[in-house]
Amino acid sequence: MSIDLQFDSNHLWHPYTSMTKPLPCYGVVSANKCILELDTGEQLIDGMSSWWACLFGYNVPELNAAAKNQLDKMAHVMFGGLTHQPAIDLAKKLVEITPKGLDKVFLADSGSVSVEVALKMALQYWHALDKPKSQFLTIRNGYHGDTFGAMSVTDPEGSKHELYHNFLAKQLFAPQPAVAFSQDWDKSCLDEITRIVADNKQNIAAIILEPIVQGAGGMYFYHPQYLKGIRALCDKHQLLLIADEIATGFGRTGKLFACEFADISPDIICVGKAITGGYMSLAATLTTDKIANTISQGKAGVFMHGPTFMGNPLACAVACASIDKLLSIDWSDKVKNIEQLLNSCLAPCRDLPQVQDVRVLGAIGVVEMKESLDVAIVQKQFVELGVWIRPFGKLIYIMPPYVIEKEQLQRLCTAIYTVASAS
Ligand SMILES: Cc1ncc(COP(=O)(O)O)c(C=O)c1O
Repeated sequence: MSIDLQFDSNHLWHPYTSMTKPLPCYGVVSANKCILELDTGEQLIDGMSSWWACLFGYNVPELNAAAKNQLDKMAHVMFGGLTHQPAIDLAKKLVEITPKGLDKVFLADSGSVSVEVALKMALQYWHALDKPKSQFLTIRNGYHGDTFGAMSVTDPEGSKHELYHNFLAKQLFAPQPAVAFSQDWDKSCLDEITRIVADNKQNIAAIILEPIVQGAGGMYFYHPQYLKGIRALCDKHQLLLIADEIATGFGRTGKLFACEFADISPDIICVGKAITGGYMSLAATLTTDKIANTISQGKAGVFMHGPTFMGNPLACAVACASIDKLLSIDWSDKVKNIEQLLNSCLAPCRDLPQVQDVRVLGAIGVVEMKESLDVAIVQKQFVELGVWIRPFGKLIYIMPPYVIEKEQLQRLCTAIYTVASAS
């Protein structure tokens, strides 16, 4: 089967691409386990899990069955005034597995929307207490999505969101945590954010951050003590803490949720991406009884959000099957094995003069180059080497499905070495 790539390039917008000079796209006709099959017949080992999502690779029997089973009952039904078992089952599972205290669940359509929901929850909480606040504090190099609220708390420098700055809410930005995950802790790393809180606490509704792993803002891993310090800072000044676990959730870092590294619970958490095992778009924002009750007893009396496809039964049913599968396989051992292999197989990249840094956490491997890469050229090299790896900026990174085989992972790492050394 050949794919009409000409029509695609003339008419279809892809993520972050130009319509006049689009980056080349490869036609994919099927995907199974950790292999993507192109219309040319080439088979590529998947290193991306379709952007953190496909934990078990593709065409997963249990997830297919859950989707088919639910499809025969109902694909969708409005969530206003109606409810259904898949949403209830999913909410039970999320309450059970997320950090403790997060017992109220809002089902959202995508990661970015779940961030909007989290920001609105924080604003409505303070509004309900008759202490309205209008700003959020976050850390540099963060990424929280492409909708307006999410863009406002994403680092404006370097991100394409910069061009909207006249239209975005003005938020507060603290420096990126200077102490990396593997370095010795130095508490002065919290000084600047502590100062910003002291100067602005009357107006800060919440601190929002990606716990431990900053993803699209640079694939940087910071020290768990920083996160612990932020929780303490929020407690001291009665600020809310929003943890965006959209990329880190469901085991990717080696913990089920990255907040566990610091043994903290946020006041609001966002989860998405891997929630459906990468099958379809779904996310959730969870919060505490206290916040939910305060919002509900405030002037508005309700939480002001309710998308058309909220709690889509098909997505909820697949999410339930995905969480069940995750908890039934030995995900922690699998992630540990991937971590070990990434550490040993990516180590040779450290010796390349083109490479700035190599870092690994859980099932995430990152090779940071000294210079930015030409995505089109590098992507082609990877495809020729039989792997699917999509770099951005100076970063070549992989987050393979947890079910990847050892030889497949070795091939991914060898391809990274080959491409990095030729760049
Ligand atoms: C940490 C984080 N937050 C939010 C988002 C946005 O999620 P979505 O693309 O599903 O809107 C992403 C997506 O990459 C993310 O990594």
